[in-house]
Amino acid sequence: MRTPIIAGNWKMFKTIPEAEAFFEDIKGKAEVEGVETVICAPFTTLPALVKAAKGTSIKIGAQNLHFEDNGAFTGEISGLMLKDLGVDYVVIGHSERRQYFNETDETVNKKVHAAFRHGLLPIVCVGESLEEREGDRTKDVCKVQTEAAFAGVPADQAVHVVIAYEPVWAIGTGKSSTSEDANEVIAYIRELVKGMYGETTASQVRIQYGGSVKPENVTEYMGQQDIDGALVGGASLQPASFIQLVEGAK
Ligand code: G3P
Repeated sequence: MRTPIIAGNWKMFKTIPEAEAFFEDIKGKAEVEGVETVICAPFTTLPALVKAAKGTSIKIGAQNLHFEDNGAFTGEISGLMLKDLGVDYVVIGHSERRQYFNETDETVNKKVHAAFRHGLLPIVCVGESLEEREGDRTKDVCKVQTEAAFAGVPADQAVHVVIAYEPVWAIGTGKSSTSEDANEVIAYIRELVKGMYGETTASQVRIQYGGSVKPENVTEYMGQQDIDGALVGGASLQPASFIQLVEGAK
């Protein structure tokens, strides 16, 4: 009943011509019935991608936004501006932003509100570091991050949030979480959503796994009951592997 969602997170990769060439290669192929395909790309490539995606089922996302709409915030991009571009999704609270750019649970929450204010759909990232996992704090960390992200978000918006569970130690390391472990944490996150919004919303919210997902392991994750797709970094950069990821999510 939940539509699986495969989202590529390109991070800080690809020029405009590279993005256009990528899109040309995946058009019609990374479009599979019953799977939602999203590309979250650098700001500079978004206008070209939005244009290329017209008439296709592929959605385009940004990787960050500022929580204010306008103002003296040099170098920032707001939800108002992303909506103006025609973007559908926005990644919020990626661990790289939490780690390198002072993203906090509070700014994540403000950004979720800003996204909805402009009709953008948030992909909210949560997940524990290696130290936290080894200290048996995975669930505590996910609880704090998830509940903070949803603070003040009404149920009719909450149902449209996509959560990406990305254990930090599995990102770009080739060390993926086992599908069973990922499913256990994701089922727990669903319980948290249930605690905040009730059973119906919890059963509708989509929760992805992210961290070294590749064409070779995507089907295994998708076979788990609570995993509704993947947020993919490295393996989303090549057209052939991105197409395989989308096909593997069927
Ligand atoms: O947001 C996706 C991500 O952080 C996972 O990256 O390269 O391990 O698939 P990667």
